[in-house]
Amino acid sequence: MDSLTIIQPDDWHLHLRDGVAMTAVVGASARHFRRAIVMPNLKPPITTVAMAHAYRQRILDAVGAGGSGNEPSFEPLMTLYLTEATPVAEMEAAKSSGIIHGIKLYPAGATTNSDAGVGSVERVYPMLAAMERLGLPLLVHGEVVDPQVDLFDREAVFIERVLQPLRRRMPGLRVVFEHITTREAADYVREADASDGTLGATITPQHLLYNRNAIFTGGLRPHWYCLPVLKRETHRQALVAAATSGNSRFFLGTDSAPHARILKEHASACAGCYTAPHALALYAAAFDAAGALDKLQAFASRNGPAFYRLPVNHGTITLRRQPWTIPAALPFGEGEIVPLAGGETLPWTVD
Ligand code: DOR
Ligand code: ZN
Repeated sequence: MDSLTIIQPDDWHLHLRDGVAMTAVVGASARHFRRAIVMPNLKPPITTVAMAHAYRQRILDAVGAGGSGNEPSFEPLMTLYLTEATPVAEMEAAKSSGIIHGIKLYPAGATTNSDAGVGSVERVYPMLAAMERLGLPLLVHGEVVDPQVDLFDREAVFIERVLQPLRRRMPGLRVVFEHITTREAADYVREADASDGTLGATITPQHLLYNRNAIFTGGLRPHWYCLPVLKRETHRQALVAAATSGNSRFFLGTDSAPHARILKEHASACAGCYTAPHALALYAAAFDAAGALDKLQAFASRNGPAFYRLPVNHGTITLRRQPWTIPAALPFGEGEIVPLAGGETLPWTVD
């Protein structure tokens, strides 16, 4: 197969930032994806419906579709950042806003801009119960932050300590286990007893293509560092099997997370891989290597809308088997940004 036309995909997990950083990156997502679930971990975080409305308008303005009255070519699907102080009334307002499609739970300290996140999940049970009642999805960064737990085990321990007890308590809560990275998470999502549309998981291109050796090949490579961190090869294989299985619980979420080059090539490098420009080509390479290009459309374009109860897109996009070299760096405000695997050549390109 030398070309592949699929329904236009959506990105179910994306960081767009704000200001000049957003201006630098949003076009790359809008070029290939029709919609994206936009993460709320700004400084300060997007914790209210009013903040989400304003942020959404800034995104539309940056992408050049704001205020026209026409249907925008790129639709940001907004999320709120859950804190221990989020009022239940804000959940109700989120549900009726028409622009908010999920509430993001960051365990406090787990990742970039997560300080305002949740220290103990028990303390947000009232908010989660409201979400269960309202049918508002919970998008969860699934890692414990306990320093006693090895960094590479934080996702597996999260399943036992947090996710299973939560889902047993609130079986109707719609949960997306974001950017899964382990065999344990893939097994859990596939096998969990969950009624239709109550459990999903996103998988990033980097976790399908690379294992943790990539972080250390030829020296310490910060552009391969993200959270949850890349795991060993057996986990990568389990994720590829999940993504290419056709199981509708698994869908595309790039977790493209732009950070300026100077903050990545730094003594305490920021976590995040920038993949917006080439995410589809990366996914195509991963599915092709698994002999499963025929499963890409479901993963990229059908399973996410089904979970989020949104229509499947109308347009199509064509991928071609044609070598394409990822730019080594791109402009990013006053500085530069280095895309994941910048300078390397991919076997697929997007028309
Ligand atoms: O690598 C990551 N980067 N993981 C996250 O959870 C957050 C993200 C970011 O915002 O940079
Ligand atoms: Zn993320």
